[in-house]
Amino acid sequence: MLAFDNVTFGYERSRNILDGLSFNVQSGEFISIVGASGSGKSTIFRLVTGLDEPSTGAISLAGNSNGQLLGKVGYMPQQDLLLPWRTILENACLPLEIADVKKKTAHEQVKPLLKEFGLAGTEDKYPGELSGGMKQRVAFLRAVLSGNELLLLDEPFSALDAITKLSMQEWLVNQWEKRKATVLFITHDVEEALFLSDRIFLLKNSPVTSFEEIEVPLPRPRNRSDLHRSDILQLKERLLQALREAVML
Ligand SMILES: Nc1ncnc2c1ncn2[C@@H]1O[C@H](COP(=O)(O)OP(=O)(O)OP(=O)(O)O)[C@@H](O)[C@H]1O
Ligand SMILES: [Mg+2]
Repeated sequence: MLAFDNVTFGYERSRNILDGLSFNVQSGEFISIVGASGSGKSTIFRLVTGLDEPSTGAISLAGNSNGQLLGKVGYMPQQDLLLPWRTILENACLPLEIADVKKKTAHEQVKPLLKEFGLAGTEDKYPGELSGGMKQRVAFLRAVLSGNELLLLDEPFSALDAITKLSMQEWLVNQWEKRKATVLFITHDVEEALFLSDRIFLLKNSPVTSFEEIEVPLPRPRNRSDLHRSDILQLKERLLQALREAVML
């Protein structure tokens, strides 16, 4: 589905963020990307979308290489990027509008989802009138509604309270299973990564030359109580330890 082949990139010439990074994501996989702040996670997404281009190396998405990537992925950036002049309903409907779905049909399809996301009554409000967590849910919904097979979600649930976060995680797993999507998911929450993913990519060094790739040894459908298994607790400890060490570098 997605391949990085020896990708090098830096915002400034003198300092690379990624250096010769290669990895593969299979179609239908759920991957979490975990690493210290500033390690280059969001940068990887900017390269996948084509917002930035590698200085050397190649990125291919479903067989297409560099260049024609934007518009092929559902992307939820770390900042929500809602359009301030559009209402919540109009913001959520944007991907359907781009796909030429009639306005009325789009509204009918999206309204029940707003309700399901705890956003009932916000459809005619503007982003400036919503809390951070609410805006995040609108942006998340919008990325999922893009209908693209590859979803890039950059800390989609970081601003949510614990309970809302759990229900959003479950909704996401459901969508992913139903639509057979491929998901790349950035998070700082190790437990979230363990609950959701098939594999975890751990960024340890700077510049990023490779990931430590960790398979999550849990069957699906998953159960929250699986997180208390002793092998999973050990894995969690190991991930936290690696993150602590990365912060201290
Ligand atoms: N537009 C930019 N111009 C210059 N440097 C940038 C730009 N965006 C990011 N950087 C730098 O690139 C590095 C990686 O940034 P990136 O946003 O990918 O980190 P991250 O892993 O997503 O961090 P966080 O967990 O805090 O979101 C950081 O050192 C950051 O300062
Ligand atoms: Mg980031």
